[in-house]
Amino acid sequence: MRVPLIAGNWKMYKDVNESVEFVTTLKNIFKDVPEDKVEIAVCPPFTNLKVVNDVIKGTNIKLGAQNLYPKQEGAFTGEISPLMLRALGVHYVIIGHSERRQYFNETNEFINEKVKVALNYGLFPILCVGEKLKEREEGKTFDVVKDHITGGLKDIPKDKIIYITIAYEPVWAIGTGKNATPEQAEEVHKYIRSLIKDMYDENIAQKVRIQYGGSVKPENVKSLMSMENIDGALVGGASLKVDSFEKIVKFYE
Ligand code: 13P
Repeated sequence: MRVPLIAGNWKMYKDVNESVEFVTTLKNIFKDVPEDKVEIAVCPPFTNLKVVNDVIKGTNIKLGAQNLYPKQEGAFTGEISPLMLRALGVHYVIIGHSERRQYFNETNEFINEKVKVALNYGLFPILCVGEKLKEREEGKTFDVVKDHITGGLKDIPKDKIIYITIAYEPVWAIGTGKNATPEQAEEVHKYIRSLIKDMYDENIAQKVRIQYGGSVKPENVKSLMSMENIDGALVGGASLKVDSFEKIVKFYE
């Protein structure tokens, strides 16, 4: 029922030429991936969105951005608006990534504003949530995740929530090579679905996709994806190489 979404978050990697070369290869190797099996997205840096879109337009690979500023336009030096993203063919936008929370002090309130603005401009948010190692060790995982979910989704109406993908990314698993076990991830995904049920209803909770992110690799993708409440992956490091990203996207084979 929920088609999994595998998205590559390139973070601050790949220049214009590398991006074009990379997606040109991806376009060919993914051309037979059935859209009812898996949805594919790539999220390059802002500077490469246009050239990447020129290559993947009309294919089964969707374009995502890694951030936005929640204003249509204005004197906000260095920022990028949702309207600008739309004009470049952007479909998804990652919001509230832990690196934004950590290095750029993004709060739940600001993240919530971004989610609302993204939706208003027809973009599909990927809202990232997840606990730090210390919080997990202190038994605060559910509290942190609840705070991120209720804060990030505050005042999002019932008819809009289904356009949002949640990405559960435990911070201790990001870029560390230490992924959550499928059981650890499933426990939190199930909890997130129960929160959405409480905030909305069962029907909506069953429709919302919840991706896992944090050291997803060809070796662990199948077992993660076999879990009932894991609906795809947000992939960092392993999405930067053709071989590993191909294996992750084709996890169902
Ligand atoms: P890694 O896959 O490199 O751990 O990164 C995960 C991530 O942050 C995706 O948004």
